[in-house]
Amino acid sequence: MKDRILKVLLSNNDRYISGEEISKMMGISRAAVWKHIKALKTEGYIIESVTNKGYKIEGLPSDLNAFNLEDLLEENPWIEKGLFLETVDSTNLEAKRILTSEVLKSALIVSREQTAGKGRMGRSWFSEYDKGLWFSLMTKPNIQPEMASKITLIAAAAIGKAIEDLLEVKIGIKWPNDILINGKKVCGILTEISAELNCLHYLILGIGVNVNQSTFDKSIEEKATSLSNEISEDKIDRFKLLKLFVHHFKIYYNQFVEKQDLSEVIKFNREHSVTINKEVIIFDGYKEHRAFAMSINDEGYLMVKYEDEEVKALSSGEVSVRGVNGYI
Ligand code: BTN
Repeated sequence: MKDRILKVLLSNNDRYISGEEISKMMGISRAAVWKHIKALKTEGYIIESVTNKGYKIEGLPSDLNAFNLEDLLEENPWIEKGLFLETVDSTNLEAKRILTSEVLKSALIVSREQTAGKGRMGRSWFSEYDKGLWFSLMTKPNIQPEMASKITLIAAAAIGKAIEDLLEVKIGIKWPNDILINGKKVCGILTEISAELNCLHYLILGIGVNVNQSTFDKSIEEKATSLSNEISEDKIDRFKLLKLFVHHFKIYYNQFVEKQDLSEVIKFNREHSVTINKEVIIFDGYKEHRAFAMSINDEGYLMVKYEDEEVKALSSGEVSVRGVNGYI
């Protein structure tokens, strides 16, 4: 019945068609018509409803919807729960809320919009409705809390590889958690954990990819860009991107948690690093220090040489790094 109503709406897409007209055509009540319209809306069809006029179809489902998330979960039974939201304050916050009422090993939360998207270091993350890929992946790896920063490197390699697979573009990684194209940021990763000193309860990877925005808030327009801006395409499929991410993430994650093998992840991070061989400013939470970023070692630490010649291995969880002349 729902499909028949959809056909009627599509063949009358230049006018409003009343609930009564549809109910007569289908031989069902107006309440039943409304129920099917509501179901179509949740599938992502954009249907205007105006009192005394009726319904008019305005748009087809977006590339990202509850149905393809369901398919993704079916193909990936290792993800125990999936949630697709129209809007939420932050997918990371939603992941934490879910864990207060459900015992889960893993969960994937995707939202079309975030009203209070969180960035690193207490910053906010602009998450415009239906323009980007805003999601959180919660897992419970059996690792020590200080190993959690490796999952950020895994996520950076997985989303970087996903972008390169989907589009003909070369990405850069600003160690450890920004993905850039042509020197501008297209993606950020916020890894949050809940842990005791020697026991990790859960880890939430929050990933935001600017996909189809053409403009940005003044405060970030100089350093932010979107995938569509960089490859001059109108609409990039966010679901395909999510699917590719999940595919690569699973491979890298299993290599790490099952065999402690980070070699492919480190290789990808090194080959795409825009941080190494650069003068950088390191912020350790208290003070800024100038240093030279030499390399990424086999554990994923950034090897830096300070001005007093001291060489240190920095873990991504401890510091924030930026270029001496600005962002990179
Ligand atoms: C950063 O670069 O500062 C990290 C940005 C992380 C943004 C994502 S969007 C999905 C998830 N939910 C949030 O509130 N933040 C992360």
